[in-house]
Order: sequence, then C-alpha cells, then structure tokens
Amino acid sequence: MLSHIKDLAAELAPRLIEIRRHIHSHPELSGEEFQTAAFVAGVLSSNGIHVEENVGKTGAIGELKGNGSDKRILAIRTDMDALPIQELAPLDYASRNQGIMHACGHDVHTTVGLGTAIILSKLSQEIPGKVRFIFQPAEEIAQGASWMVADGAMDNIDSILGVHVFPSIPAGSIGIRYGALTAAADDLEITITGESGHGARPHQAIDAIWIAAQVITTLQQAISRTQNPLHPVVLSIGKITGGRAPNVIADSVLLQGTVRSLHPDSSKELPSWIENIVKNVCHTYGAKYKVDYRQGVPSVQNDLGLTQILQAAAEEAWGSDRVEILPEPSLGGEDFSMYLKKAPGSMFRLGVGFTDREVNHPLHHPKFEVDESAIITGVVTLAYAAYKYWGLSSDTTTNLTPVAVNG
Ligand code: NI
Repeated sequence: MLSHIKDLAAELAPRLIEIRRHIHSHPELSGEEFQTAAFVAGVLSSNGIHVEENVGKTGAIGELKGNGSDKRILAIRTDMDALPIQELAPLDYASRNQGIMHACGHDVHTTVGLGTAIILSKLSQEIPGKVRFIFQPAEEIAQGASWMVADGAMDNIDSILGVHVFPSIPAGSIGIRYGALTAAADDLEITITGESGHGARPHQAIDAIWIAAQVITTLQQAISRTQNPLHPVVLSIGKITGGRAPNVIADSVLLQGTVRSLHPDSSKELPSWIENIVKNVCHTYGAKYKVDYRQGVPSVQNDLGLTQILQAAAEEAWGSDRVEILPEPSLGGEDFSMYLKKAPGSMFRLGVGFTDREVNHPLHHPKFEVDESAIITGVVTLAYAAYKYWGLSSDTTTNLTPVAVNG
C-alpha cells in the first residue's frame, strides 16, 4: 500500500505544485476565502468526492466513502486563509493580491489536503471507513475551527489529523510531538481606576499608574512563586494606556496583554488567579479594578494512539532519521484544538525548510518561502497514516493525559 501511495503521489506531484502556486498567488484573508473554497470544491468534486460548500461561513468539506467495512470516520483538517502581509519574496507566482500573502503556509496545507483526498479517492475500495476532509477558513483569527464545528464538521467524527508547515525543519522531514503541541492563547485586559490629583500632592490622589506598575510586578513575581513550574505560563502585558499630563496623577490605566499556557488546568485557573492578585493590590492602595479575561483557543493536546500512527506512517515512508520527535511545544496558538473538544486528534509539523539556504525565514515573514518538495512528504504521510488508522482498534485512542513539558 505504501509504495502504491508513493507512486500515486509522484504522478500527482506536478499537478499539486500547480495547485499550490495557484492558491499562493491568489491569497484571501480570514473569513473571505471565497475563491479558495470554490477552487477546493472544484478539485474535490472532479475527483468524485462528495462536497459541501459554505460550511463554517467560507469553509468546505469533502467526504469520501470507503468500502463500508468500518463505521468510523476519520477527519483530516487543513486551513486556507492568508495574512495581511505584503509579500517580498521574489517569486514568479508571488501574491497578486496587494497586501495579502500566504505567509503561514496555509496554501501548502490546502494543497496537501487536496493531494491526500485525491490519492485516497483512488484507493477508496481499500479504505474501510469514511474520511472527511475539512477545509477550514479563518485560522489566523482563531475563529474558523469554531465556525466549522458549529456547522457540524465534527459530527460523528471519531478522530482527526492535522498538519502545519515548519520552516526550521528541512523539507523531506517531519516533526512529531507527543502531548502538548501549542499553547492556550488567552486575552487579558485590566482596568485600574484611581483618583486624579496634582503631581506634587500624591497623598491626595490615588495614582493609577503606580498601582498598575505594582500589579504588573506582582503578577510576574507571583507566576514564578505560585504557578506550578512544570505547567508553564507566560503573561505579557503588551500595551499600557493611561494618564493625561506630566504633572497630573492618572486616574485610570488600561493594561492589555496575552496569556499563554500549556496545561489544560492552567487556562481554567488563571482568570481567578489574576483577578485575586489585581484585587489585593488595588484594595491595598484604594483603587478600583476590572479584569476582563477572554479565553482564546485551548492548547493542542495530541492524542497518544493517533500520534503513534503518524510517527509509524512517517517512519515507514521516510525512515526514522527523517522523523523528528519534537522535545518542546510551541507557545503559539492553533485553533485545531477546537476540534479536539469533539474527538481525539494529532497534528504534525511538516518540514518546508530549504537545506541549501542559510536562512529560512520564519512563519508570518514577508519573505517566507517553502521548499515545495515538502508537499509530497505531507501527502504521503497523511494518506498512509489515514490508511493505517483503520488498523487501529477503536479503544486505542484516548485523550492523552497531559505530561510534564520538557525545557
Ligand atoms: Ni498557520
């Protein structure tokens, strides 16, 4: 089966490069993936795959029937949106849409999803259950997965696989991660209200700027003393607004930041932990406060059994020296975690770095480029992992208990 998949992928390679370049030169922003979704739907239906359009606003779903000997449905998710970045890479297929660029490799993801769908459609008689291909919009604004789930994309799904490109891994290799892959990414706003007064007479006022400084310092110190060091938390205040004039004591300060955490319990406990600290500091100095904590996407926790399948599929296909077991998660966010609320899943990192270049620009960089040979690596890995999935007994996949994080 593996050599069959590899042959089909090799045959398909020129078409997949064409598809990727087409998507790359026509990038669309989150929630506006109209042409991309229509293009995806066209490719799927011309390969005999049943398509549903306008799922999750601008998403699309393809569903492939297997031979029916297994009731389980495996989902494969790829995302389609681009970023508001002006492309600076000197490519003849560079973005034709001013100020919009596929700088996060979602053009590659979409192509890998399509390639996997085309190959599995040719092997459908050998696939026991169904495969649902989820082409998601709006990942960059962490909304698309929720839109897809709300529209039923995960109904009856037993397991889900996902992929994201990674420029620091060379093309031809992939990265596998057990447990936490990405962090929970939450938004934080703290308003501190004091009382204005003359800068020369602070005792007659309540200085919101000084109290805000106390709040920030106390939060950063308390993280190191009261949070479990094996459950990393990063709290960054990125914006402070307050004050009117150099000689006027500020009556109000707004702190805005982001909170990243890896352990599922952290994101649940952090709102009250933060509120408590803010409350105590503010009460000590007579200020009022308001804490607005908005939970974003949870941490992606890769399932043990499905991660083993991805690793085994990749090692059989490419050799173990081209499969890197990633020692550390990323503190970036990824809305793949919204699907994991519905079914266990695993996401791997697809190497797209050029081995003959000294610099591979990072994701979201205006000169970000990918080595397109990675498309075939991704397609074969996913198609073969999907095939191997049906050999897995249904009780093997369980949500992996989060493990302590290295590093
Ligand atoms: Ni991305």
